[in-house]
Amino acid sequence: SRPYVFVTRKISEEALAPLKDIADVHCWNSESEAVPEEVLVEHARKADALLTMLSDKIDQSLLNMAPNLKVITNLAVGYDNIDIKAAAEKGIVVCNTPDVLTETTADLTFALLLATARRITESERYVKEGLWKSWSPYLLAGSDVHHKTLGIVGMGNIGQAVAKRANGFGMDVLYHNRSRHQEAEQQLGATYASFTELLRKSDFVVCLTPLTEKTRHLFNKQAFEEMKKSAYFINVGRGQVVDEKALIEALENKEIAGAGLDVFYQEPIEANHPLLKFPQVVAIPHIGSASVETRTTMMELCCANIMAVLKGEQPKNKL
Ligand code: GLV
Ligand code: GLV
Repeated sequence: SRPYVFVTRKISEEALAPLKDIADVHCWNSESEAVPEEVLVEHARKADALLTMLSDKIDQSLLNMAPNLKVITNLAVGYDNIDIKAAAEKGIVVCNTPDVLTETTADLTFALLLATARRITESERYVKEGLWKSWSPYLLAGSDVHHKTLGIVGMGNIGQAVAKRANGFGMDVLYHNRSRHQEAEQQLGATYASFTELLRKSDFVVCLTPLTEKTRHLFNKQAFEEMKKSAYFINVGRGQVVDEKALIEALENKEIAGAGLDVFYQEPIEANHPLLKFPQVVAIPHIGSASVETRTTMMELCCANIMAVLKGEQPKNKL
């Protein structure tokens, strides 16, 4: 019988078409709402393959209920939502979607940085709410970006693509990473710094690091205290890399100038969350890789990786 594939969200039919030639494909029938856990479990019991979203928790107990499961492909570069150790122990292949989202996510990172520094979203509300009565010299005046110092925490592919953009803005680029990155140093002029040194020197601190046990709460009270009072914190990595209570305190006490946040401790963040009350916080709903082109490519890649495993071939993006 044909392999059984469960897709945890309604995705592009075109992306799914090749997979449907070789497998019985079932999709959770909503684009906007996450699959309920009991529905996921019901399908996982039968599934040879799962195509998952970063918002789906794929833990050991779910894997224990999925005896036929051979492959999980996550529609994201990050995979902290999946217990990869438990999957490995069961011989389940896990794939992500690196590379194809690098430039798109770097664009968003820079857009968020610029929007935060130049108060774009605040300015837009000002105009649309009819508050603009006269031009004035310091009206919605923000901070310069060009020729400032950018500190990148997590120098992977996306970090390098952000550094390339920063070069165009004449910025000095510092980076902190688990290991030194010769290519970034030589080709992008990025300078390695310890975490503390980066925090002390940067005008913009950009967090792109994956969420691991080592990076959880990396940005804590002490980290925000090390930052310049004029600095902006931009997070396009994962929300749980930040101690949000410490971030709120830093904003309240004006220990930093502002924050641009694409990711949050709890997603979706509640509209009445204290973080959202600050005018100097720009908040967007985890859209780093969300261009139509890139999301379609990511879906196609997930399907290709599933097909490879089901055919007994090596998938391109095996972790
Ligand atoms: C998005 O956050 C991703 O990991 O791709
Ligand atoms: C993305 O591909 C990254 O590793 O940053």
